[in-house]
Amino acid sequence: MVMKKERRDVKEDRIKTFIPGFDKLVPEGIPRGSSILVEGGPGSGKTILCLEVAKRMCQAGKKVLYMSFEEREDRLRGHMKSFGADPEEYEKKGLLYIKRFNALDIARSVEALLSEAKKELLIDVQPVLIPADFKPDFVLMDSLSSIASAFSGEESRFRIYMEQLFRYLESYNMTSFLIREVSSPSHVGTSFVERGEAVSFLSDGIVAIYNVFYRDAPRKRAIEVIKLRGSDVDRRLVEYTIKKGEGAAVHPDKTLKGNFVLT
Ligand SMILES: Nc1ncnc2c1ncn2[C@@H]1O[C@H](COP(=O)(O)OP(=O)(O)OP(=O)(O)O)[C@@H](O)[C@H]1O
Ligand SMILES: [Mg+2]
Repeated sequence: MVMKKERRDVKEDRIKTFIPGFDKLVPEGIPRGSSILVEGGPGSGKTILCLEVAKRMCQAGKKVLYMSFEEREDRLRGHMKSFGADPEEYEKKGLLYIKRFNALDIARSVEALLSEAKKELLIDVQPVLIPADFKPDFVLMDSLSSIASAFSGEESRFRIYMEQLFRYLESYNMTSFLIREVSSPSHVGTSFVERGEAVSFLSDGIVAIYNVFYRDAPRKRAIEVIKLRGSDVDRRLVEYTIKKGEGAAVHPDKTLKGNFVLT
């Protein structure tokens, strides 16, 4: 009896994305409250993956916050609709909150807070970003790279802001996918020398998406879970597809074969 209860408790502390193929790569689930970076080059499918997570989570009755620093709300809703989802319905039900922010406003607010605060580490990111009246199960941020650019040349300020943000998400047990654009193919291998590199070690997990180039065959997309703290993950590089009417899907049964180059 006791064993059973313990096991159930452990399970309850983990969450799913509800993307069946993706969840197979993380069979134990994602520890609640973790921050996971979704990395990839331009057009690799980062936004679409996160919108797919939003769609699936809302379908399962979970609350999702999508913070965009790039595309407008109506465009994001349009992408979701093209996948057969009904974002307006989720919004009406209070399950989905899509909001576009101006990254420069964030940088300016942080600047103002920092100059007011005597101790730099005591700024409160919450009023700057997370809507006070919405407590999501899952947070999607698109993207950290846009925020980093807005802090142009102020890497230390960006770092303070990121530390606060990660701490905030953790303290409220909000699980997050945070998009980070990496200029390909620097995310293949070890050289993280990009803007906002501080976020790599702040994160609990990294998911990488790639464009796959074959010499004699059409291009493909691929995805892998690079790390997930405290979890046993399936680290294979598998196919990732984006299809009209269907959305994004991860195919754990299709590992990449042949001669290809990842970008
Ligand atoms: N409705 C759709 N049907 C089919 N393919 C689509 C659809 N929407 C997007 N795609 C494809 O998915 C690709 C990746 O889109 P996505 O916006 O997710 O990339 P991204 O990694 O977020 O790029 P960026 O770094 O520019 O933000 C698009 O370039 C397009 O080829
Ligand atoms: Mg995008």
